Amino acid sequence: MPVISAPYAFNEGRLFVDLESVCGQPLFLKCEGFNFAGSIKLKAANEMVESAERDGALTPDSVLVESSSGNLGVALSVIAASKGYRFLCVTDSRCNLSTRLLMEALGSEVHIVADLDSNGGFLGKRIDYVRGLCASDPRYVWLSQYTNAGNWRAHYRTTAPEIAAQFPELDVLFVGAGTTGTLMGCARWFREWRRPVRIVAVDSVGSVAFGGEPGRRMIPGLGMSMRPPLLDESYVDEVLRVEETDTIRTCHRMARHGFLFGGSTGTVVSGATDWLARHDTRGLTAVAIAPDLGERYLDTVYQTNWLQDLYGEHVLDAEEVSTLTRQAKPASRGPGRRRRP
Ligand SMILES: Cc1ncc(COP(=O)(O)O)c(C=O)c1O
Repeated sequence: MPVISAPYAFNEGRLFVDLESVCGQPLFLKCEGFNFAGSIKLKAANEMVESAERDGALTPDSVLVESSSGNLGVALSVIAASKGYRFLCVTDSRCNLSTRLLMEALGSEVHIVADLDSNGGFLGKRIDYVRGLCASDPRYVWLSQYTNAGNWRAHYRTTAPEIAAQFPELDVLFVGAGTTGTLMGCARWFREWRRPVRIVAVDSVGSVAFGGEPGRRMIPGLGMSMRPPLLDESYVDEVLRVEETDTIRTCHRMARHGFLFGGSTGTVVSGATDWLARHDTRGLTAVAIAPDLGERYLDTVYQTNWLQDLYGEHVLDAEEVSTLTRQAKPASRGPGRRRRP
């Protein structure tokens, strides 16, 4: 029985969902949403704060400041509240309302940037804003998740060995890419492992993280409007790009089986399912990482008006068809499958 006295001291590291009955491919999903910050970002936040404390960069009168699309902001809010630091999160208008309210409930200050940068994202503007704050007052301490080695080191120390411990025969790992902290930490650890693991990065269409054309992206977490400074592509075997409509359909498909995951999980699972359908999966062990859960996305990914305004009236039609097709083949399904009314 884990008993903790600090909210950052617990993280469920051993929970995996077997998605075969949901997506029709052999895929295990590592769930990173079960901690007091509700996302994988608690690991990166912990590592970066502890290392700034060790270096002496963070002192009791420091004010933490960070640019975040939400989850790192919540994780830093949890840690700052627990350790007695002030925290100011610079986010943008794509940040979910519930995420912003969460940060404020934890005592953090939230500043919202509304101007787009030249790549159609908010990142450049958010970073300019943080730089301006740091120049205005030496008490501001910017951990800079985009460049901080603690971001990837957290996953090198925890996420990758947690996967290896449960899947000693792992062949392929699918990792969503934002700052690429998760991707680089896992890729570096598995490069040193006793067996080769194919590292597949999953990005969203419209992100310029791995090159490509910038475009509109409405789902926070994955994708970048600049090249991630932490990214070293020599560790990445393949990059998949997923359309937001496919992300949304995959999120809804999982929700119909009772698994309510966040938007970026839909992206990673969609990319992974597609990849697995194109490869020989006999004897293959595949794992994907789910960065968070779905409650923060109730007013976006899981809200009909939001979906139809952005992606058109028929965005979920293809999903309806595939759900009905699956229902028409009950003999091929395992027990306990949820039936639609
Ligand atoms: C929901 C979600 N998914 C994926 C990611 C990407 O993780 P990373 O920044 O380690 O690449 C993030 C990062 O904030 C996130 O919040």
